Amino acid sequence: MTATTMRTHRCGALRSAHVGLEVRLGGWVHRTRDLGGILFFDLRDRDGIVQVAFGPDWTPAEVLSDAADVGMESVVMVRGTVTGRPDDARNPEMSTGDVEVRAVAVEVLGPSEPPAIPVWRQKGEELPSEELRLQHRHLDLRRPELQRHFALRHRLLQRARATLTGLDFYEIETPLLTKPTPEGARDYLVPSRIHRGQFYALPQSPQIYKQLLMISGFDRYFQIARCFRDEDLRADRQPDFTQIDIEASFVTSEDVYAFVETVLVALWDEAGFRVDAPFPRMTFDDAVEQYGTDKPDLRFGYVITDLTDLVRGRGFRAFDESINGGGRVRGIRIPDGATLSRKQVDGLTALAKQSGTGGLATLKRRGDALSGPLAKLDGLSAATAELEDGGLLVATAGPDEVTSPALDIVRQAVIQELAPPARVEHAFVWVEDFPLLEPDAQTGGWVFAHHPFTAPRHDQEQALRDGAYADLRAQHYDVVYNGVELGSGSIRIHEAATQLAVFRSMGISAGEAEQRFGFLLKALRAGAPPHGGFAVGFDRVAMLLAGGESLRDVIAFPKTTAARALFEGAPCEIDARDLAELGITVRAP
Ligand code: AMO
Repeated sequence: MTATTMRTHRCGALRSAHVGLEVRLGGWVHRTRDLGGILFFDLRDRDGIVQVAFGPDWTPAEVLSDAADVGMESVVMVRGTVTGRPDDARNPEMSTGDVEVRAVAVEVLGPSEPPAIPVWRQKGEELPSEELRLQHRHLDLRRPELQRHFALRHRLLQRARATLTGLDFYEIETPLLTKPTPEGARDYLVPSRIHRGQFYALPQSPQIYKQLLMISGFDRYFQIARCFRDEDLRADRQPDFTQIDIEASFVTSEDVYAFVETVLVALWDEAGFRVDAPFPRMTFDDAVEQYGTDKPDLRFGYVITDLTDLVRGRGFRAFDESINGGGRVRGIRIPDGATLSRKQVDGLTALAKQSGTGGLATLKRRGDALSGPLAKLDGLSAATAELEDGGLLVATAGPDEVTSPALDIVRQAVIQELAPPARVEHAFVWVEDFPLLEPDAQTGGWVFAHHPFTAPRHDQEQALRDGAYADLRAQHYDVVYNGVELGSGSIRIHEAATQLAVFRSMGISAGEAEQRFGFLLKALRAGAPPHGGFAVGFDRVAMLLAGGESLRDVIAFPKTTAARALFEGAPCEIDARDLAELGITVRAP
């Protein structure tokens, strides 16, 4: 299947079964070695590397001398015979390590200048800087490790398609030149030449389109969707990324959970991991209460607890002041925490301070002896503090909005420091019952927590009508895996009146709603089924399953954290004539 008119096999496919065959191989010269008259090439292609040997006993003299001149990373065609290696020359680390190809001919088809970054590296040799690798991405992508990542990415995509097709979903594409779709980030805008002064937006997600497809009766839709968001980047974000986007009609969240679990279990299986569904569930409020975050990493304990009643009125002024001001004292009991050094504990305190708390108060137990600032609390003992021998209690006071993120960061640092063996490797959890709206610091009003199409919980439509926005909980759910948000979704509003009420709660007037989302409202008035869906962040899944550290390890041509494409050089300035045609003048920054 991999044979072409030019070659008989892929390099990496040769095995003992091929011994005796005459083969023609095409590939890149990974590295060369001259061992006293015998010249070796490691020849590499997508399937792997095979050793090619040129020796005076089987290679014509002129071929031997041509081979000696071939540069690393040049593309060559080699003709030769697959030969079994003697036992002491076998290499069990290579899948082709039992054989070599004894070459009788070599032809350079694509000479290479000395490569700007090495593709072959000595074992343990560090990679060049990421900036350099991105500048020479065509070479970086040749690394066998990255080749494997993209092989896996391909298989994951095909498995997602097959799984969703098996669940009776249709794959339907939606436009890339569209109207702004709010997902909480800025839009990338594309000027229209024909309609001067007007702009398309690249989709932040296919959200509205997939809802329209439900209203049009397609029942179940999926798309491997490219999404574009102009936001501040981090290692787990790219401006241009891929979702496995799904939507289904006549469903409750239970149905959506089942679809998503089926897809994720299949993807983990494709990568060689057995995971079980259904995934456990946790409300947003519980996640924030117990882990300080809506992305709890359930591989580890160190649950946050409320210590207010424990410490109240025991003579610790800072705590009592905070409690009297309406705050709480919360903290973490860390078994084995007494082994943390003074410096490590100071480090945790510094993290808590950076997150806006007054710091961390600690209580350490060794045997029956208690130490640390909390040991002075009136009547506090190891038993009342429920602290086991060798344990450390860390506590901080303040409003939940401050202590939750602080304790999340402290907990993650504790995990790093103590690195206890993870109990389960694959900790999936559904986080559900998110708030529908969040206070908007800029306007003092309310803004959607996810997107404005999320339905409030059924029992809360009255609260919506009454304007009790802080209490509103949404039919929104996320899948979190080992502390990473893999995806999110919701049951959508399918009635125009509710949609308008939600817009109103966000300060969007009926007129503005018609102007921005009129096409959706029109469709909601035309017979809309109850519907809901989900989007899996596919790059994150591929990164985690490939064992990569950044999304850039699984995206062929990624952007840097400064949102630049270093290889092709984007974004770039545009020719003045092209700008004039678009009616655009650029003011110097
Ligand atoms: P959301 O905005 O939560 O939901 O996105 C879904 C998932 O997409 C991934 N993701 C990203 N991955 C890489 N780079 C980014 N910049 C980026 N932003 C998001 C995350 C995230 O969980 N329309 C809704 C889904 C729905 O309601 O059906 C949406 O897009 O893994």
